[in-house]
Amino acid sequence: MNNNFKKVLMCLLGVGIYISAVTFPSKIYADTIQKKISRNNNDSFTLPSSQGLKGIHNVSYDHYSLMIDGKRIFLYSGEFDYWRLPSQSGWMDVLEKMKAAGFNAVTIYFNWGFHSPKQGKYDFSGIRDVDKLLTMAQKIGLYVVARPGPYINAETDGGGYPGWLTTQQGRARTASQDYTAAYEQWLSAIDPIIEKHQITNGGSVILYQVENEYTGGDALYMQNIRDKARKDGINVPTFHNDKSGPKGRWSSGTGAPDMYAYDSYPGLAAIPSYYGDPRKFAPNSPVFLAELGGGWFDPWGGKSYAILSKNYNANYENVLYNHVVSEGATMMSIYMTYGGTNWGYLPFPGVYSSYDYTAAISESRQLGSKYNEEKLLATMYRTLTPLTKTDPLTTIEAPSNPNLLANAIENSDTKTQFYILRHSNGSSISNDNTTLKIQSADGIYILPQEPGTSININGQESKFIVANFQLGSEHLVYSTSNLYTYVTQGNRDTAIFYGGQESDGETVLRYKNQPKVTVLCGNVKSRYDSVSGDLRLNYKHDGSISRVMIKDDNKELMLLFTTDITAQTFWCEDTSIGEILVRGPYLVRSASIRDRNKLELQGDTDKASDIEVFAPTSVNEIKWNGEKVKALQTSYLSYTFSLLSPEQVLIPVITNWKYSYETNEAQSEFDDSSWISANKTTTNNPVKPLTPTVLYADDYGFHHGVVWFRGHFKASGKETGIILDGEGGTNGAYAVWINGFYLGASLSGIKNFTFPKNVLKTSDDNVISVMVQNMGHDEDGGCKDTHKSPRGLVQASLQGDTTSIFWSIQGNKGGETLIDPVRGAMNAGGLYGENNGWTLPNFPDKPWKQVTLPDNGKQRGVAPGVSWYRTTFKLNFPKMSDVPLALYIKDNNTKNYRAYIYVNGWLIGQYINSLGPQNLFSLPSGVLDPNGKNTIAIAVWALDNNSTGLGEIILQKLGNYSGGVPVKMNDNPSYKDVFNKN
Ligand code: GAL
Repeated sequence: MNNNFKKVLMCLLGVGIYISAVTFPSKIYADTIQKKISRNNNDSFTLPSSQGLKGIHNVSYDHYSLMIDGKRIFLYSGEFDYWRLPSQSGWMDVLEKMKAAGFNAVTIYFNWGFHSPKQGKYDFSGIRDVDKLLTMAQKIGLYVVARPGPYINAETDGGGYPGWLTTQQGRARTASQDYTAAYEQWLSAIDPIIEKHQITNGGSVILYQVENEYTGGDALYMQNIRDKARKDGINVPTFHNDKSGPKGRWSSGTGAPDMYAYDSYPGLAAIPSYYGDPRKFAPNSPVFLAELGGGWFDPWGGKSYAILSKNYNANYENVLYNHVVSEGATMMSIYMTYGGTNWGYLPFPGVYSSYDYTAAISESRQLGSKYNEEKLLATMYRTLTPLTKTDPLTTIEAPSNPNLLANAIENSDTKTQFYILRHSNGSSISNDNTTLKIQSADGIYILPQEPGTSININGQESKFIVANFQLGSEHLVYSTSNLYTYVTQGNRDTAIFYGGQESDGETVLRYKNQPKVTVLCGNVKSRYDSVSGDLRLNYKHDGSISRVMIKDDNKELMLLFTTDITAQTFWCEDTSIGEILVRGPYLVRSASIRDRNKLELQGDTDKASDIEVFAPTSVNEIKWNGEKVKALQTSYLSYTFSLLSPEQVLIPVITNWKYSYETNEAQSEFDDSSWISANKTTTNNPVKPLTPTVLYADDYGFHHGVVWFRGHFKASGKETGIILDGEGGTNGAYAVWINGFYLGASLSGIKNFTFPKNVLKTSDDNVISVMVQNMGHDEDGGCKDTHKSPRGLVQASLQGDTTSIFWSIQGNKGGETLIDPVRGAMNAGGLYGENNGWTLPNFPDKPWKQVTLPDNGKQRGVAPGVSWYRTTFKLNFPKMSDVPLALYIKDNNTKNYRAYIYVNGWLIGQYINSLGPQNLFSLPSGVLDPNGKNTIAIAVWALDNNSTGLGEIILQKLGNYSGGVPVKMNDNPSYKDVFNKN
């Protein structure tokens, strides 16, 4: 085989030619001088390094961007709310994955209700340890945007308000006295933790949000939150997130925080052109998207995240985010970047347990095309440092193709220009070609110059053209390819450009003298114009990587041209000796240098992978997850090695189910003497009850899950039935019994239940039992106290006679005084089984019946009401592996039952068989023990006679990765621990 042929073959295979079978330590390029990366632009480059953030710094901002120690940054942040991932090792995993994709910050909502089961009580331990979370973010090297509310919305119970707050008289989100005292108490608890972690105190918190999308009119309220934060030592800039685009709310005057920011969730078909608008009314703030759509939530009965993700896909991110940048934004936070799980009673009634959100990192912490796209964008924005100080370029010519539009911005110092092209209708799926005239300090050009080629814009794709840019040591005149990034290693820069499969690419660099151009791989045409000094390269983007080496004096520029899909296989990692590139693995979490020239990579693989590393040639040893690899040096001045596929793992089939019926509360002989008498005659609730005594669960300290009412009355014999209004929020339901006889169920609302003949005991005690499901408290987005919408019974009147009923109520055992503070308020509901430890590991279920699933309850004569199914299974996954699992409920959706799914005592999901769409429940490791025994307990509530029993329960493996973050198991109290049993 001649050498050229070999080269072409290797190129096609995307593999380098091995020039030495290393032989580490070998110093083939020993002359390479390592110098610390420095970007040659007027604006300095600041990125929290992968070695974490250290020291005390200050934060400032101007019209253009945020600055750390006076250095401009492009803030690329993502929302990750720890309370939707009950696992500290899970937090670490998500944060590392964000960092690896090029995010430089994480945005966090702190959820008041998640920390406070009772007024005056705040818990910051275990899965609520936000001090630990903030330390993690700092160590990983992420800035933090803190959003402690007090109101957060976020599709969570009461918009983040604690249950106990619903009983206040004063209107929330105003300066009312009781509300003020309450939220100041919350801020007094959370602010000191945030304060300690501020970058100004040696941490990484750089911004503090005041309230959330506040459309109310109480300026003193807004002002007081900000003043309180200052009093608590918050000295980083404060901001507010204006609702639905830049409306100018709280941009100035009383109640205005320091900076102006806003939220935007557009669809691609109607991308607004308002992104630069804040410059008009908030001239001192950068264009700051506090929330920019990263997907959307799915309601009960919704389409499912699988369907939503067809629209909220990687193209959506590409077109929208580039557009936002094209209008001058330098600060953005993608909501959500990891959505997670509404485990326990976290959801508000509008959403189900999965809050996947179609986010870049899936609920099971897996990475896909959206993550990969964000990696390209985040890395590009960070690489193109002149983006941090731009003004609109208003005089540009429209693209030649009228289907397309171009926005352009220019750095006011370097005059670097950015032309961003897309379809005028962002959702268009047509593939279009165009030319574009640009005028920069380098001259006037019509792009592309090469005859017979064009700029190709596929449907739902945007193009980010950079002109007049200092690319390492060289000058880039322009490129019709997107620049992913470049790294500087010694005297060599390596840059990656990409475009759609088979699209044309043209890159022009400027050299005083004709440089030596070597096409190492691929089909790239070059021509040098000695008059202009322009070196023009023309090529097509395809999946194999075209490699061109340009040598000029003693400087080298290695250009890699490829497709977006192949570019996504590269990871750009910062080390103490500069940035390196790693191609091939599923994930590179971090890279570091030990002993000057030993490279240590940490990462994950999902299959056998060929890896290529572009690192300084001084590197003489590479370790992957602590193991030395056999690396080879290629003629492309890179290193290659292979990684094996992850070890196979076996997933057990779940069997050995134990079964027990409960619903004891419905039976006439049930002893309710220990229940709370529901005898309050007044309530602060704005909705006044239609019953003589208040039957609102919250007024008696029961804020989550099911509550039971038992109403005793002495029958005259004339009573014919009862009208009830059971309220559990949208999609809530309630069920009713008289003297143990089942009267039926209803969705939240009013229903007339008729007593059958012969169930009443005249002149004797009769009991009505009502089980009301609470779907969570409504949000208060409109500042109308809607989180106070009652939960429980609003109406209960016997028909046929005016007989009085004496009610008592029972919710979660202990009410606001939790019996299981480790799992917390959001894990405590009022089912009999929940109150008696049936959810917990080691609960003695031996006497229970053995059943198999699917279980046809009707055949077994099971009555409507609540039954429990329990079993255990063992896992033994390899060390250093991450195997996300989920429970799949397979059943026919005509059956009218609901279920609460507990794993190791944690309520990981709520299920409504007839409504869906969720039937797959992600099991967070930390809750789940990947190397031990796990307990499942499922409470099934059958709403009618035909719906008893339970479908099949299947444990599913969603992926298998080698690597991962070692799982730290949650503190996991067993039955004995919680109930003090020996
Ligand atoms: C925003 C709000 C967030 C969340 C989001 C939709 O308007 O600030 O908290 O509710 O909408 O997911």
